[in-house]
Amino acid sequence: MPTSGLFSRNLKKTFPIAVRGEGCWIVDGNGRRFLDAAGQAAVVSIGHGVAEIGQAMAEQSAQIAFAHTSQFHTEPAEKLAARLLALAPPDFRNGGRVYFTSGGSEATETAIKLVRQYHVETGQPERYRIISRRQSYHGSTLGAMSVSGNVARRAPYAPLIPEWGHIAPCFCYHCPFNKTFPECELACAEDLETFVREHQTETAAGFIFEPVVGATLGAAVPPEGYVAHIAATCRRNGILLIADEVMTGMGRTGKPFATQHWGVEPDIILIGKGVASGYAPLGAVLASARVVDAIGGGSGAFMHGFTYQAHPICTAAGNAVLDYLEAHKLFERVNTAGKNLSEALSRLEKHPHVGDIRGMGLLVGVEFVKDKATREPFAKSENIAEKIRQAAMAEGVLTYPTQGCVDGHRGDHILLAPPFTISDEECALVGDALASALAKVFPS
Ligand SMILES: Cc1ncc(COP(=O)(O)O)c(C=O)c1O
Repeated sequence: MPTSGLFSRNLKKTFPIAVRGEGCWIVDGNGRRFLDAAGQAAVVSIGHGVAEIGQAMAEQSAQIAFAHTSQFHTEPAEKLAARLLALAPPDFRNGGRVYFTSGGSEATETAIKLVRQYHVETGQPERYRIISRRQSYHGSTLGAMSVSGNVARRAPYAPLIPEWGHIAPCFCYHCPFNKTFPECELACAEDLETFVREHQTETAAGFIFEPVVGATLGAAVPPEGYVAHIAATCRRNGILLIADEVMTGMGRTGKPFATQHWGVEPDIILIGKGVASGYAPLGAVLASARVVDAIGGGSGAFMHGFTYQAHPICTAAGNAVLDYLEAHKLFERVNTAGKNLSEALSRLEKHPHVGDIRGMGLLVGVEFVKDKATREPFAKSENIAEKIRQAAMAEGVLTYPTQGCVDGHRGDHILLAPPFTISDEECALVGDALASALAKVFPS
């Protein structure tokens, strides 16, 4: 390979060249095949190399590749918006609207401004703060980082990002209150109540949360009652609830949107990743009727815009992906495939350094601890998550490692989020590869 001119994510690393994708597999320039157990970063839902998606994009490109949203709407964007709203809770189906972006961070940015404008339009200009949770991640742009609580990712840019306030994460395995459910009485949800009471309720505009926390906590699922509790707090205090479903949305947890597991209706839902399964850069903000009505009944104009929003080729990809999900009943398949994956991973449970295996549907985290009894994490410098990733990759399986789930610095986990098409045999391969990786990283 010639020297890379790409500004890579880590200039000290080299990266293999991905040349082909087939189902759950990625083939590199040397012909090596890797089982994509992470769907890259929980992106690929229908699998790699599905020819009809490219065909749909090519057809759209031949028809009309671009029209600016200040002058035209296009059929694929109109169609996809209607289909996404039809999958969403009632308050979205009846009078909701979809704002398409080029990815998750743009969706978060859009939501921040939409929430602010909602309050301005409804005569509450004092409301501007978006509250979020510690250890969270909602995107890389500065607005999105201001609502992301991950300390390591914030640190270098701290002078550039406002601090609007963070509450405790909802993370039972490392409970920030050292409590256990249900005796905890949802102290983490109560933290929003306390925070709002103690920090000027009148300036609070929105609360953003990831229903199942993917990258930063390794698929941490909230206990029963949590989502309903925070939703009620928001509603009582005039705060808009934003569900960041960039990772959990579009079926990854077994329902189109994860909040549907708890019957909760957020005011705004963010999606990305799976909406086009990686075939095109696409994200979206689903705004419920309440939010749409405030703008529609007020100025009418959302003061926001991206040149590439609602891109015809990207939304054509989104429609083709949704066609594929529906035709192959892949939303339904997530639950059974998720059970198969969990079974394949269950052999790891006894390992002295596997602290927890958690998740929902096909969003699964495996956390590695130094001491299983005390749940003490490894030192950050040991770089355990990355070591596991490398060892699993040597076994031909791709995982998504992250550090910091315990306190933003310490805590090692890998995320598994394979395509919904993953077979029983492929699930077994993931279990085998991780068992071998553990044996290599922790030789007895
Ligand atoms: C929960 C969540 N929100 C937002 C984002 C940002 O999305 P993107 O990388 O498409 O900008 C991500 C990406 O990992 C995410 O996991």
